[in-house]
Amino acid sequence: FSSLRKHLMSKSTAKYRKDNQSLQLPIYKHKAKLVQAVKESTFLVVTGETGSGKTTQLPQYLCQAGFCKNGKICITQPRRVAAITVAQRVAHEMQCTLGREVGYQVRFDDCTTQDTELKYMTDGCLLREVLADPGLSHYSVVVLDEVHERSLNTDILLGLLKKVFSNPTEAMKGRAFPLKVVVMSATMETDKLSAFLGDCPVFAIPGRTFPVTCTLGTAVGPKDLQSTGYVKEVVSLALDVHTSEKAGDILVFLTGQLEIERACDLLFEKAESIDYRYDVQDKTVDGLLILPLYGSMPTEQQRQIFQPPPPGIRKCVVATNIAATSLTINGIKYIIDSGFVKQLNHNSRVGMDILEVVPISKSEALQRAGRAGRTSAGKCFRIYTKEFWEECMPEYTIPEIQRTSLTAVVLTLKCLGVHDVIRFPYLDPPEERFILEALKQLYQFDAIDRFGRVTRLGELMVEFPLQPGLTRALLKAASHGCQDLLLSVAAMLSVENIFIRPGHPDKQKEADQSHRALAANSGGVNDFGTLLSVFQQCKSSERPSAWCKDNWIHWRALKSAFSVETQLRDILLRLRDFPVEKFDGNKNELFRRCLCTGYFTNVARRSVGKVFCTMDGHGSMVHIHPSSSLFDKEMELDWILFHDVLVTSRVYVRTVCPIRYEWVKDLLPKLHEVDVYELSSVAREEVTDEEVTKWETREAAKRQSEISAEDAL
Ligand code: CDP
Ligand code: MG
Repeated sequence: FSSLRKHLMSKSTAKYRKDNQSLQLPIYKHKAKLVQAVKESTFLVVTGETGSGKTTQLPQYLCQAGFCKNGKICITQPRRVAAITVAQRVAHEMQCTLGREVGYQVRFDDCTTQDTELKYMTDGCLLREVLADPGLSHYSVVVLDEVHERSLNTDILLGLLKKVFSNPTEAMKGRAFPLKVVVMSATMETDKLSAFLGDCPVFAIPGRTFPVTCTLGTAVGPKDLQSTGYVKEVVSLALDVHTSEKAGDILVFLTGQLEIERACDLLFEKAESIDYRYDVQDKTVDGLLILPLYGSMPTEQQRQIFQPPPPGIRKCVVATNIAATSLTINGIKYIIDSGFVKQLNHNSRVGMDILEVVPISKSEALQRAGRAGRTSAGKCFRIYTKEFWEECMPEYTIPEIQRTSLTAVVLTLKCLGVHDVIRFPYLDPPEERFILEALKQLYQFDAIDRFGRVTRLGELMVEFPLQPGLTRALLKAASHGCQDLLLSVAAMLSVENIFIRPGHPDKQKEADQSHRALAANSGGVNDFGTLLSVFQQCKSSERPSAWCKDNWIHWRALKSAFSVETQLRDILLRLRDFPVEKFDGNKNELFRRCLCTGYFTNVARRSVGKVFCTMDGHGSMVHIHPSSSLFDKEMELDWILFHDVLVTSRVYVRTVCPIRYEWVKDLLPKLHEVDVYELSSVAREEVTDEEVTKWETREAAKRQSEISAEDAL
């Protein structure tokens, strides 16, 4: 056979080979010393090459050494797939059922029990747990893993753990035994980490790496920053490697799911036409197994990534950046590097966080190349030019905390009693204006008052693992007794894309048609309404999976939406105590008005033709994205609100809803009400109740005198 595909592979029943692989890992020789080092100090930094066994082995060592007797051990991961796959792997190594002794917890998916001893979880989940239990009393050891990734939540956890557990008496509050904190990093400067954590000890696991020869290409230069031509380029390069290089697996780095699926299809097509008698140089190579790897892919598929391919078959994994450090695939000898990564960035042009495809940093490129040299010498093929390397790629990746919105994190910190969010111990502090921007947003959503203190609403908002605007809309709906509408919408917006986009143009037409019909049936065309209607129709249909298939909807995504909805509902039920307001009007209007309370920061008004202008002070010119049911209906619209933004050559808004000016009239002034300097002064100093009263009296007096002045006129 010339090529194999994912589904063909699933028939071959390769299970994990039971072997002593874990005894061969570099970390194994240091087991006793590592355990000792953890016992001896509160903080410990552990560093070692990716693949040395930090994530899978160290927690097991600690468990064997008795740390689980005092409490659980948790290991945080910035990425959810990593948390899940690693937990699976460790459960397998310990020969237990996933969810029992070894489990995982990611947002909206908790696979643990009371008895779970090793808990792999996303950093976001641990941050939420700190809110409920600041002393982390259930844990004996907290392992912050993949710290070099510098994810926002890991950075915040680092600061919090430093703040609480550097002081021994403070640290023991609410705890029966001292907590141990292990901080693991593959590449980061460990001196900096150690210094940050009070000069704590560093344990370096010596690595074994082999040389990797890197070559630059000609396909992507500084002028190709916006082009997506690199997918084709990467595919043809992968094929060249397959036909001309010796046996050994290939790892291709691309940026996201759609792109990866497209590359796999292209590669499969081309690989089928290979004549193995003439075209392939290494005659022991007998076929190509193509496997995608990205964040949201089905769990069954993820397992195959780690299994060795059948004899004679070359494996080619097409992955996102997740394969750079979070997951190690054995047997990789060739790397193909597109030079791009998908990254969440704060876009000052539109004043919002946006997922963008950007060039990787030079240090990232070295890390990618290194994946080829784990077991023998390897090769790395970069498709970009020397000019691209020099002009477009930064030296290091900027930590997430310095490039994304801090709104949710600042609210969490405030709820944890950290008043001064500017002088919080950040490993790398974000720019002050980003913190102020976050405070301003929280003020606009009524989550904090003008003295920077968390309001009752803020306390409610922090309970929801959603972005603040969406939570605000949900709470508004709850206060009108129509939470059902917003719960479904929030759930639908929290899962991956639900609309199937087939590759074939004819099929695409068919899918488009049925999506348009769904939108038209939802009563008053608006994209939020469509989501709601899809949710309800599917839920009430007799055979939901068949319903999805007929309507070109991802059943898997909807299933998660159902589960997310239940979880959000549970949170809402837990928090009683809502002021209930009456509303006379129709439900459709109420629905959209509730959306306005959360999305008034994302409001735009049509200016000329099909162009809309945002109202948030940035005054950006935006277009409705073709995927919206309101696309091509622009001329009938006046005011709209939107869920998110996509920047290509134009700025597009997606998931759109028409609104009326009256609904946001009273909310819009809030966008300009406080200036950030005012917040900057209160952000630093905690205001006493006395001062607040004084201020209120003064304001009241001022108002009084204004009124009398008006009277006098
Ligand atoms: O954390 P670190 O990068 O140091 O290494 P690790 O993730 O603990 O990986 C140790 C070994 O386990 C590697 O050889 C991985 O390929 C292997 N592994 C696996 O086979 N299957 C998984 N799901 C996870 C890891
Ligand atoms: Mg690891």
